Amino acid sequence: MCIVGARPNFMKMAPILRALAAHNPPLPALLVHTGQHYDASMSDRLFSDLRLPTPDINLEVGSGSHAAQTAEVMKRFEPALDAHQPACVLVVGDVNSTLACTLVAVKKGVPVVHVEAGLRSYDRKMPEEINRVLTDQVADRLYTTERSAEANLVREGIDAVRVCFAGNVMIDSLLSSRELAHPAADTLRAHGIDPAMLDSPRGYGVVTLHRPSNVDSAATLEPLLNVLAEVAQQLPLVFALHPRTRANIDRFGLAHLLQPQRMAVLPPQGYLEMVGLMKAATLVLTDSGGLQEETTALGVPCLTLRENTERPITVEQGTNTMVGRDIQAIRDGVAAILDGRGKRGRVPEMWDGHAAERIAADLYRWLAAGAG
Ligand code: UD1
Repeated sequence: MCIVGARPNFMKMAPILRALAAHNPPLPALLVHTGQHYDASMSDRLFSDLRLPTPDINLEVGSGSHAAQTAEVMKRFEPALDAHQPACVLVVGDVNSTLACTLVAVKKGVPVVHVEAGLRSYDRKMPEEINRVLTDQVADRLYTTERSAEANLVREGIDAVRVCFAGNVMIDSLLSSRELAHPAADTLRAHGIDPAMLDSPRGYGVVTLHRPSNVDSAATLEPLLNVLAEVAQQLPLVFALHPRTRANIDRFGLAHLLQPQRMAVLPPQGYLEMVGLMKAATLVLTDSGGLQEETTALGVPCLTLRENTERPITVEQGTNTMVGRDIQAIRDGVAAILDGRGKRGRVPEMWDGHAAERIAADLYRWLAAGAG
């Protein structure tokens, strides 16, 4: 049983399902959507862009507090697991659905496979960090995207024989979709915005923000929106607004800081739109985990508005620079990129578009050997 719940899971699962089906012999999979993300723009749209099949089971949990959401996934997943008795449960990433389904499976003695294991921000205030640490502790087979992840796992007492360095499935999706990506101008036009606003000699920037630590209080969100307004004067921006951020901007009365002449403010975008926006961008400003990796694979400079990253290879080898919420660091980072001093980076080891095939091959061997 393969589990997805929230937006960043979908691009990881799509290549895995294809690789399981293409394996010889095929590895049959049931797709379970917990329904953590439910809006058309956060879920359905991505399913079609990523050529994901309709879920076999939708638990329709929706939003809630962390406790309520996690508990609801657990309650609704248990009978589905009992009914289908899978050889293993495969989870990806670090969202609440990942941990919830892991806990249900492991307590029933069903082996758990975690794809994107071992990433650590070492920031326990992030809900995702708790989800990562706990999922990895009880998972039976752990697939990593970068070598530092295995060292993190071993430090936490996890036996290295359970760990397999397979590469990055998110980059499998990126490479197989890059040619299909929608041009940025079409994306703007689809929202009634004249794409001429992007015609600047320096190009344009792409912005996403949704981390609770950045957007849940006016004291952090307001200065960030102010500096984005300042950046927009030098470089037109395309800002894809997450529902959490949209709601908070309205709640805090900050909508006047979004400047339509220099900033194209869009709802959450489909996958092909997002890839199209990123691949032609001069820079990306984000607090997303996935965008840090995707910009590294695309060779586009990325400024990450977080104090830490669980994906250090994007900084060491890729195009990522951590700027935190430090307004001057954000200004300096943008200025450096506009001066042509942005990181060029190189694509990390095994981010080659074949990670899911390696996972399918290893999973087959592991299951055939008794999932020990
Ligand atoms: C979740 C993940 C985060 C991931 C992000 C990507 C956890 C702990 N967090 O955060 O790791 O980076 O998804 O988006 O699992 N909402 C909608 N429509 C939707 C989904 C959410 O309107 O389809 C709104 C709701 O008001 C909801 C809020 O967004 O309360 C937050 O959604 P939730 O799934 O709880 O967390 P995210 O912030 O999206």
